[in-house]
Amino acid sequence: METSTGTIRRLARYAPAICLLVLLGCAHNYPQTTLLPRGDFGRLVDDLFRTTVFWAIVVFVLVEGALVFAMLKFRGRPDDPEPRQTHGSTLLEISWTIIPALILAIIAVPTVKTIFKTSDYATGDVVQIEVIGHQWWWEFRYPDLGIVTANEMNFPVGKTVNLRMTTADVVHSFWVPQFAGKRDVFPKRHNPLWFKAEVTGNFSGQCAEFCGVQHARMGFRMVSQTPEEFAAWAEAQRPGSPLVNKGVVAPDTTAPVDSAARVARQAGDSLRKVGDALFSSAGCIGCHAMVGTPLAGTTSLKGPNLSHVGSRTTLVAGFMANTDENLRKWLSNPDSVKQGTLMVLPRKLTNEEIATLVAYLRAHQ
Ligand code: CUA
Repeated sequence: METSTGTIRRLARYAPAICLLVLLGCAHNYPQTTLLPRGDFGRLVDDLFRTTVFWAIVVFVLVEGALVFAMLKFRGRPDDPEPRQTHGSTLLEISWTIIPALILAIIAVPTVKTIFKTSDYATGDVVQIEVIGHQWWWEFRYPDLGIVTANEMNFPVGKTVNLRMTTADVVHSFWVPQFAGKRDVFPKRHNPLWFKAEVTGNFSGQCAEFCGVQHARMGFRMVSQTPEEFAAWAEAQRPGSPLVNKGVVAPDTTAPVDSAARVARQAGDSLRKVGDALFSSAGCIGCHAMVGTPLAGTTSLKGPNLSHVGSRTTLVAGFMANTDENLRKWLSNPDSVKQGTLMVLPRKLTNEEIATLVAYLRAHQ
């Protein structure tokens, strides 16, 4: 009686931890889980994982079952004589070498099959996207659509997305848990990855290879859209892309329809003028491409293309929501938001300049 009370007391000490584990099982929001695949590539990997776990459980039950059976059936009793002493058994030793080797050989079949299925570029009717890792953000280029964007990858649901991936600096790892596996990106070479999304929505992505102080804040967003939404997004993103007319956009010369439209046009024009001048004089232009300005290069950008930054949902590689307040914080002192960031302001901006730049960037939808 004493012992069982003690046991219960000891178990009670672990109760909070056990309850917490059980409660965690009830949560629904796991943005980085690989166990809820939402694409064909993710499903292939998940199937392989489940097959392997199934066979691991079979092996576990058989081995542990035999062990428990032997422990119970052949357990020693107080008056037993000393058991027969043996040394080695060729039959047993060969069996427990061959059986695991066979199991590994069997598991290797679906594993190698999945590796071959997922190791090359997708062909056919695909959405082509070039992925370039940077310390610490992601550049996405759509060569067929003439789009260059950052940290948010838009794509249509139900159509294969074919990624060709590299890095501008160190090794990173592109990871979209619910669509595909992880794949490292290396300087001066390209790696493939593809997936076809099954559902629309926003999904989380993350750099999965330690790449410097802000590795943890090298996130990105995967935006799966209906084909119509994607087409509209692509059309809106093309102007100002370094891939289209070197990013230069012809000014709108159509006559405003009414006086309100004229006032809005004038306000927009003046904001653009002041913003353009500040964008150059404050040094932003050294690293960022921007619609209508000489560009930081069409091959590689040091910082994200800002032509449509106002339309993105997040700032600083998925780290914060794209609000005026966060943009202001970032422009006041980037290093205080993301320590070690390679975005260095050539000089401190005044509050007035920051307010102008926030309005200017926000206007770039
Ligand atoms: Cu890039 Cu970690």
